[in-house]
Parts: sequence; C-alpha cells; structure tokens
Amino acid sequence: MEQQILDKYIEAGKIAKEVVDRSKNLIKPDAKTLDIAEAIENMIKEKNAEIAFPVNISVNNIAAHSTPSWNDESVIGEGVVKIDLGTAVDGYIADTAYTIDLTGKYGKMLDANKAALENALKTLKAGVKISEIGKIVEKTIKSYGYKPIENLTGHQIDQYQLHAGLSIPNVDINSNQTLSEDMVIAIEPFVTDGAGSVIETNKYEIYSLIQIKPVRMAEERNLLKELEIRKGMPFAKRWFKAIPEIKLNLILQDMVNRNIIRRYGMFREKGNGMISQFEHTAIITKEGAIITTQ
Ligand code: CO
Repeated sequence: MEQQILDKYIEAGKIAKEVVDRSKNLIKPDAKTLDIAEAIENMIKEKNAEIAFPVNISVNNIAAHSTPSWNDESVIGEGVVKIDLGTAVDGYIADTAYTIDLTGKYGKMLDANKAALENALKTLKAGVKISEIGKIVEKTIKSYGYKPIENLTGHQIDQYQLHAGLSIPNVDINSNQTLSEDMVIAIEPFVTDGAGSVIETNKYEIYSLIQIKPVRMAEERNLLKELEIRKGMPFAKRWFKAIPEIKLNLILQDMVNRNIIRRYGMFREKGNGMISQFEHTAIITKEGAIITTQ
C-alpha cells in the first residue's frame, strides 16, 4: 500500500479510537439517543475527519442500521448499548464499535464478544481463508454458551466504500475466499442469547447514494449535491432536517423507487434476544495485520 494511503487509514483509525474513548462516558440511561449521536458526529467533525456513516446506536435486541430520527425523544434506558461509528480521511475509512452494558447483567456476553474479536484479529494475515475467521469467531462465542449472529458479517473497506466486495463471516461457512495483502477489512462479531440471526424491519433512517439521476425539485437537487460530496458513504435522514419532514419522506421514497439511493432497514434479533457487538478495522499484511482502531 502506498505510504500516503496507509497514513490516512491510520489517521482515520486514530481519530475513531479517540472518539470511542471520549464517547463512552456519554452512554448513560437518562441520556437522549439523539444527543449522543450528534455529540459523537460532532467529535468526528472537530477532528476534521469525515463521518463515514451515521453513528449507529442500537439498544438491546436491535443490532444495526439504527440511528435516531431528527425529532427522536427516546433515552438510552438501562440496556445493552452498541455504538458503531466510522471516520474517514480523504475517504479512507475506519469502522469501529463497542458495547456498554448498563444493566450489569451481560458481562459474560460482552466477554465472549471481545474474545471472539481478539481471536479473529490474531488470525488475520494474507492468505488466510475467510471461513477460518468465521470458524474461530463461532467457536469462541459458542464456548461461552452464546450464538453469533449468522447473517451479519464484517466487510472489506475501500476508499469511500464502507462495504467493498468481501464479507467476513461470523460463522463457519463454505468458502475458499482468502485475505490478501493490503486488503482493509472490518471484523465485527455480534453475540446473542436469542435465535442467532437478525431480521430487517421497516424503520428507515439510513440511506446511501447509488447513482445520480436527473431530479425535478430544488430540494432534491440540493440533497443530491450533498450526497455527491459524500461519494456514496451512507447518510442519515436527520442530517436533512432543514427540509420539511413530509417533503423529505416523499423525496427519499421517490429516490429509492428510482434507484438513486438505497435504504437500510433497522435490524432486530429474530428471537428478540439481547445483542452485543465489538468491531475493529484492520489492514492485512504478509505477517499479520495493522489494527487501525485499537
Ligand atoms: Co462495520
């Protein structure tokens, strides 16, 4: 990898880690979800990094694709809280997540999750099969008496591309795909005491650009201009609260129908089990990996 690009990935990772460390004390039962999301996104901006995707705040049986709506009044509550955040420097992304257990009852689940992530990170190296990573994650989680979420995966990362090509399984799958040198990947095991999979709900707060097409309304053109600057990195509906909500809903629906943008439905555990998540971003080398967010 070119040194300049490597430096940017490392800088993005360093910023992500700082934001993780600073954000942890915001996670309290009476804190408003929207306030936390905005505070975290402001921390990223203050560091002159790009927000690679809207901060995901997922509580209890919610796994991902969850970010507050613009008028969200909900508070965190005494739950198991996942914070998944992304930073980017010139589009070179760092993606990281952590869980805080405000109930005090899920320590073992979090231990299982951390161990699974650590074991996966230790195996990373050019030439390693992705099935091997899935196998290690699954084995570790099951040894604690829990299940991995089988239909959520880690993913390859590229410039401005949060999900680029390869998916990194959290269970043992039949695949001959391997990691190669300079590949950037996010490893993100999810642990549950539920069914072991997620279903997509019809709650949509996160979207991303697919392709630019001509649009009629001035608001649509302005929105597309903003999305063009983000070069395909996901965005939150609440970032466009200057547009009246009814109009914004119509615009987004129209753009989804016309394949201009895609939407991401919030994921819920199929058996309504509790879920935890930990994630780091890694650059694969011949000898191992550079963990940018650790
Ligand atoms: Co990720």
